[in-house]
Amino acid sequence: MTAMKVAVLISGRGSNLQALLSACRVASFPAEIVLVISNKADAGGLDYARKQGVPTLVLDHRAYRTPDGKADRVAFDCAMTAALEQSGVEFICLAGFMRLFSPDFVQQWHNRLINIHPSLLPLFPGLETHQRALDAGCQIHGCTVHFVRQDLDSGPMIAQAAVPVHASDDAQSLACRVLTAEHRLYPECLKKIADGSISVQGDKIHRRQQTCGTQVLLSL
Ligand code: GRF
Repeated sequence: MTAMKVAVLISGRGSNLQALLSACRVASFPAEIVLVISNKADAGGLDYARKQGVPTLVLDHRAYRTPDGKADRVAFDCAMTAALEQSGVEFICLAGFMRLFSPDFVQQWHNRLINIHPSLLPLFPGLETHQRALDAGCQIHGCTVHFVRQDLDSGPMIAQAAVPVHASDDAQSLACRVLTAEHRLYPECLKKIADGSISVQGDKIHRRQQTCGTQVLLSL
């Protein structure tokens, strides 16, 4: 089986990128990362990818402006698609990529674009998810891998991982526990999509075997 050609889009640290790259190093893994794109030149994940010999590209979104000086999302997204297509990318994993997409981009990569979000969606779309979970008094928190649709942090949910919230937690300790779960969940989701165990039809996720995609990591 040929490995699915994947791009990972980042804006920062890149710990999920590292988890995906580690998984892809296993010879039998059904996906390979052929390109890492960052909109920030100083994203930590870029160094890691370079050291691993993975092609990287920086596309600074600030360079794409309309004549009246506003952010030109469409032009930026077109540049990304051109780079992705040039590298033969078939599938995209967002891993802390902090830009919203134009409708055309979301349509062009429909069902070939997934994201990991640090909450149990549909709870807490957007930012500051850990503090918001604490403020809401949640006793369980976690992360979600989902196909991307136009609305922020929306789309068919592939799998979730849940972790406990401890009384002593602050946003940082909770983020750390969730991140450990993310690093397990994201590669597993990519594997299942790449080997065909999980697919999406319309807005419904299909699992080849009736295995539950969700992990409850209460021992963390
Ligand atoms: C993760 O928490 C991920 O869920 C969110 O952005 C963060 C990226 O972290 N989308 P990293 O750059 O992968 O370390």
